[in-house]
Amino acid sequence: MSKIKKIGVLTSGGDAPGMNAAVRAVVRTGIYHDLEVYGIYSGYEGLIDNKIKQLERRSVSNIIQRGGTILKTARSEKFKTEEGMEQAYQNLKNADIDALVVIGGDGTFTGASIFGNKYDIPIVGCAGTIDNDLYGTDYTIGYDTALNTVVECVDKIRDTADSHSRLFFIEVMGRDAGFIALYSGIAGGAEAILIPEKETHIHDLIRTLETGWRANKCSGIIIVSEGENEGGAFEVARKVKEKFNHYDTRVLILGHLQRGGSPTCRDRVLASSTGYAAVKALLKGERGVMIGVINDKIALTPFEKAIEQHPELNMKLLEMSRVLSL
Ligand code: F6P
Repeated sequence: MSKIKKIGVLTSGGDAPGMNAAVRAVVRTGIYHDLEVYGIYSGYEGLIDNKIKQLERRSVSNIIQRGGTILKTARSEKFKTEEGMEQAYQNLKNADIDALVVIGGDGTFTGASIFGNKYDIPIVGCAGTIDNDLYGTDYTIGYDTALNTVVECVDKIRDTADSHSRLFFIEVMGRDAGFIALYSGIAGGAEAILIPEKETHIHDLIRTLETGWRANKCSGIIIVSEGENEGGAFEVARKVKEKFNHYDTRVLILGHLQRGGSPTCRDRVLASSTGYAAVKALLKGERGVMIGVINDKIALTPFEKAIEQHPELNMKLLEMSRVLSL
């Protein structure tokens, strides 16, 4: 018999489309199992500021299709301090909350791991980040939506790039992981894809562009991951232009546009499944683990492992993209 009666749920770090679907799943699964569920607003920052409110099954109606997070989110510096954590713990204790579900990425799980161990609180996590950079899940909540947003933008840019015979450098998010860049680059038929996992060499990029030029390519798209080593799209464009100025060039930073929008079907299903599994895991006595999905099955990975290692990027796809963009 589980001793857990009241659980809290929060979203933390960068928002990701699908977080609302996960919150909905946690609230409804909790209530189904006779738990009281409390929403903690603005992530760990809200826990310190005691922004805690009980959620009912109807509190999460009509949110499965909405981007962002109704619980709001934050990157909390205060939670990294002893006083901040202590205050967060006192607030949890005063509210009689026995366990937490945290939805977020590596920063969220780092905090959860330290907090859970220090105060002996059962915490489980749902992988919510557009970066897809957590070990122990095939996909993270928000990644698929972000990818589709990027591909839609690349398609639009290709129209104008082609009309004006221009070369576009499009910078995408991902922090130090190249998933968004690699997969959107392939789907958008990019001429080159620059990712943090492979060192960028400007002379190689110029060689690729020269080959295209000789083969009568009159426009092009270069996808630049924000974490690649040359310093981003503006810097890469500047260096290319210095040595190879056959094209009129433009730079586009997609930025936070990639974090918004209604979640795709895949993200809604992933968020619903992991939110549901998170509550079941807490009731079974699990703690300190991220809930992911591997080969369509729920998988539990200790927080430390989920954040320590990056999932492996399939580098053969980079080679394939080169061949296909000849
Ligand atoms: O982790 C998600 C992410 O969007 C990264 O891709 C990006 O580097 C970062 O967050 C941006 O953070 P912020 O919203 O704080 O500017």
